[in-house]
Amino acid sequence: MKRSSVYDCSMIELPINHRERGNITVIENDITISFAVRRIYYLYDVPGGESRGGHAHKTLRQLIIAASGSFDVILNDGIIKRIFVLNRPYQGLLVTPGIWRELDNFSSGSVCLVLASQEYDVQDYIREYEEFLTWEKNDI
Ligand code: TYD
Repeated sequence: MKRSSVYDCSMIELPINHRERGNITVIENDITISFAVRRIYYLYDVPGGESRGGHAHKTLRQLIIAASGSFDVILNDGIIKRIFVLNRPYQGLLVTPGIWRELDNFSSGSVCLVLASQEYDVQDYIREYEEFLTWEKNDI
């Protein structure tokens, strides 16, 4: 399998449907994003200064959106780190499998919406960074 790179991850612009009474952004499977969504979850009420994530997924694809407020996503492929500031509900960060991620710098009241390509599977997680580095080196 090809080694994952942080450069395979990218911010995408999501469609905005402007309306006088507000905006709507619609995300459709295989149209807006290149995978089919099997699970949605969201983080909220994250205390200021708290961080989340601190893990990698072996096969999961995700689109991460700041549905409200802002936070930073730090992606790390074991060699290179990229930091993305998410602060627009019409932008999403596509995260490919095999990338270590951390989320921090949550603004008060922020909502981190995640669209995921698979159901929750504890076996898909790598929670120890050293284990991630070993897995990453061997996953070629
Ligand atoms: P986790 O993915 O570890 O969140 P973070 O890395 O942001 O801290 O999930 C936190 C807890 O929630 C963990 O005990 C597993 C549970 N969980 C589910 O049961 N289903 C899910 O879809 C997710 C994302 C988490």
